[in-house]
Amino acid sequence: MKVPIEDYFEDILGKAARGLGLSASQIADQTGLSRDAIGKALRGEFNEDHVRRLAGPLRLDAEALVAAGRKTWYPNEVDLEGLALFNTVYGDMTVNAFVVWDPATGEAGIFDTGAEAGAMLTFIEGKNLTVKSLFITHTHGDHIAAVDQVVAAYSCPVFVGEGERSTIGQSFSPGKGFNLGSLEIETRLTWGHARGGISYCIQGLKRPVAIVGDALFAQSMGGGMVSYRDALETNRKALFTLPDDTVVCPGHGPMTSIGEEKRVNPFFPEFKG
Ligand SMILES: [Fe+2]
Repeated sequence: MKVPIEDYFEDILGKAARGLGLSASQIADQTGLSRDAIGKALRGEFNEDHVRRLAGPLRLDAEALVAAGRKTWYPNEVDLEGLALFNTVYGDMTVNAFVVWDPATGEAGIFDTGAEAGAMLTFIEGKNLTVKSLFITHTHGDHIAAVDQVVAAYSCPVFVGEGERSTIGQSFSPGKGFNLGSLEIETRLTWGHARGGISYCIQGLKRPVAIVGDALFAQSMGGGMVSYRDALETNRKALFTLPDDTVVCPGHGPMTSIGEEKRVNPFFPEFKG
């Protein structure tokens, strides 16, 4: 199943406006648009001229924002041995979890659980993988809903970044490394959406992989619920410094790559053109 793009252009506008703390009247002052026009844009009425005028004050890339509004882009398909995505329904949305394994040894890690882990467990059994650990990107409910189910199945340790201040597993400091067979996992702090969000950067498959939770989405990013500024900044430092062919595995929406996000993600104008 093709996982749909998570955010529409109006979600992007809303996240930027909230993140920058701009009220509708401040945006009206800066764009010359009426509050009515701004409200329509935020509700998803796409008017290209209005969207272009909104981009500057919201520090978004105008072309990328217009492209999001036209809904024509979708990331290149990712087909990588040693990586599988599981998309499950959580309330009125869907959430991703991932399995990564060393194809040579079958040693595997689970990254977040999604709403329900049944399909993932069946897949792991079918491939005869040996689950070593459950790694958590952040502890929002949709990402950890099936921790008990996974632990019951594999009695594996659960690792969670210390900034999350959670008791669901063993805390670790960002920068700590892990191994799955010959695969090497580096942990990077990508906080701002969550207090202690972790991105797991994995080397050893045919392409580098980054499992990022809600730090970055295809063509968007998670909201800066803790700090929008730090969400942007840690993405720039920790994720956009990865090689362009790195597969990005977000908590919502389809997989993408660092190279594609440099071109299409409206939140990061500095990589365009
Ligand atoms: Fe989240």
